[in-house]
Formats: sequence, C-alpha cells, structure tokens
Amino acid sequence: MSNNLFGVDLGTQNIKMFSKGDNMVLTEKNTIAIRNKTELFACGDEAYAMYEKAPGMIKVSFPVVNGVIADFNNMQRLAEKFIEKHAKNFVKNCEFIVAVPTDITEVEKRSFYELFFKSKMKPKSVLLCEKPIAAAVGLGLNINEPTGFMIVDMGADTTEISLISLGGLVLSDLIRIGGNHFDEAIITHIKRKYSLVIGQKTAQQLKMDLGSATGGDYGTQKIVGRDVVSGLPVETEITSADVNESIKDLLNSICTAIKMILEKTPPELAKDVIRAGIYLAGGSSNLHDIDKFISESTNIQVNLNETADQCVVLGLNTIVTEKEYQKLAYNLTKKIYN
Ligand SMILES: Nc1ncnc2c1ncn2[C@@H]1O[C@H](COP(=O)(O)OP(=O)(O)OP(=O)(O)O)[C@@H](O)[C@H]1O
Ligand SMILES: [Mg+2]
Repeated sequence: MSNNLFGVDLGTQNIKMFSKGDNMVLTEKNTIAIRNKTELFACGDEAYAMYEKAPGMIKVSFPVVNGVIADFNNMQRLAEKFIEKHAKNFVKNCEFIVAVPTDITEVEKRSFYELFFKSKMKPKSVLLCEKPIAAAVGLGLNINEPTGFMIVDMGADTTEISLISLGGLVLSDLIRIGGNHFDEAIITHIKRKYSLVIGQKTAQQLKMDLGSATGGDYGTQKIVGRDVVSGLPVETEITSADVNESIKDLLNSICTAIKMILEKTPPELAKDVIRAGIYLAGGSSNLHDIDKFISESTNIQVNLNETADQCVVLGLNTIVTEKEYQKLAYNLTKKIYN
C-alpha cells in the first residue's frame, strides 16, 4: 500500500476521510450547493450552512440517501472537491479504500467503486470494505477470532445491525431508520402540538440537547418557528418530553430489529454477544441514554465508544495498515471477473 492512500466513508450526512500521509480524520457534511442547475456553488460544511436558507436558484442537496449514492455526478464532484481541498498535492498515483453498506445491491456497491475509479484523481486502485467490518475494527475488536460481535451502526438515514465472526458477516440488516427520521418526527410533533413549523437543523439541535431514549429529562429549550395559522415567527419553549415522545416509536422499531437479529443468532455466537455486549457505532449512538434503552430492552449490556461516529473510517485505516486485517478489503473488479 502506498502512503498516498485515502480511506473514505460516504455517509448520508457526513463524509469522513483519512489520509494515510497525515494520519488524521477529516469530517465534513455530505452536502452540495448547485447554482442555476449546473454550477458548483459550495460543498461540504459550507453548503450545509446554506441548507434551508438558500434562495430558489441555489439547490442544496445530499447526494447520499439511505446509505447509497442517489446522485452520482454530484457525489463525484463533491468527493473530488473534498480531496482536492484537504489533500492538496497528495493526489497523484493515489489509492482509495471505500466503506460500503452490506445490505445493498451489487449495482449500488459498484457505484461506490466507480465513483472513485472514474474520478479526476485517477487512482491506481480502489478497494472496498463492508462498513460493519470496518466499524468493528475501528472499535478495536479483534474480528479475526472465532468470536461473535454484534455491531449496531446508527447513522443519519440508516441503522445497520451486524453480527460478525472470523472476519466475515454472519447476519446483517440495514433498516431505513436513523437520526434524520428522529428529526422529521420532532418536526411533525411540534407542528401538530404547537402549530409551529421548524427547520431540520432546529429539530436536530433539540434532539441532541433534549432527547433521551429512556424518556429522561434534559430540560427545556426556546425555539423560533413559523406559526401555521398566522404565518408569523413565534418563540416557544420545547421540553424533553416533547422530543422523547416524538422519537419513541422509531427507537422501538430499532430495538425490534436488533431483537430479530438476536433471535436468528446461532447459539454459540449468542453466548459471545451476551458476554461481550452489543457495540454501538455511528453519530446517532450519541443520543442520551441510548445504551440504557437498548440494554433494558434486550437484556444485554451495551458498549458505547467515544469515537463512535468515526469508527468506520478509523477501521479502514487499520485495515490498510495492519497486515492481519488487509484481507478484509477487496477489489470489486477481481471479485466479479475472476
Ligand atoms: N449528540 C447527538 N445526539 C443525537 N444524535 C446525534 C448526536 N450527534 C450526532 N447525531 C446524529 O448522528 C447522525 C449522523 O451520524 P453519522 O455521521 O454516523 O451518519 P452518516 O454516516 O452520515 O449516515 P449513514 O450511516 O446513515 O449513511 C445525524 O442524524 C445526527 O443528528
Ligand atoms: Mg455511517
């Protein structure tokens, strides 16, 4: 592996990238702003700042939806800009390792490969690695052993529940529930209860500050929204209870999906999961009391990690640098044609 190597996790909300050259993780919003239908106006965090604030001729969008590339051209432009901006003159002769969700079609997987392989960077090679595998390695788990590990990666549009043993996936399920759905549920609840329209960013802030998976009280917050009847901006105080009520059903659905995977888990691996506990990853695992909620509902201990939202990209780094893990990455072309 050359030193000119980039690991990339293209998430629904965030792009995370590491460059082996300078050994650090860079995170920016996976957002693009296009002016007059074609002109690239802004990307990353800069474009996200414009989200819900831009005039009609500027369209701010997220090219990854539900964990897969929904807008190939804009995702490619965004990735190229991101690498140009952060890697400067590192780009020639580079290599990529890209994390892909497991439970998607071969065509969707291939688009992650082609996005980089056919990009301006003209890389020497593009390797892929399953996201849950990378997440487990990033959490510091030795997945090459015959031990079962359960990883629940709670992202923005998706939650991926996986059971891993001997460097491979035994079971996995990608459900379309994540942080964005929590935000939408909060928007709907506030509109119904207070007749107030709020934006996604406000909802997200409420979730982070006041939300609790177990219904805990994290105080109140004043927000400004548009009154549905008068059309005027109004200030209202929102409580923890409001936020908790909105996200309750979605959290229960996530727990049901975890339990379904547990029910299908072979008994010997189930023993390992009970002993080691369930590992949480992804940004939404930062929701207050999520560990307590899942552990009460499954009767299994839950492990939280401080670097939960970066563990996929940190894992990619370990996979390309440490010999015993290198076989976890694969080349899509070889896999298909050999
Ligand atoms: N403190 C917090 N409390 C609750 N949710 C949080 C917190 N911090 C971040 N999040 C949520 O985490 C999500 C982003 O997580 P992450 O970066 O793992 O997603 P992603 O990888 O872009 O998405 P996906 O994996 O679904 O493609 C957002 O929905 C964000 O609101
Ligand atoms: Mg993710």
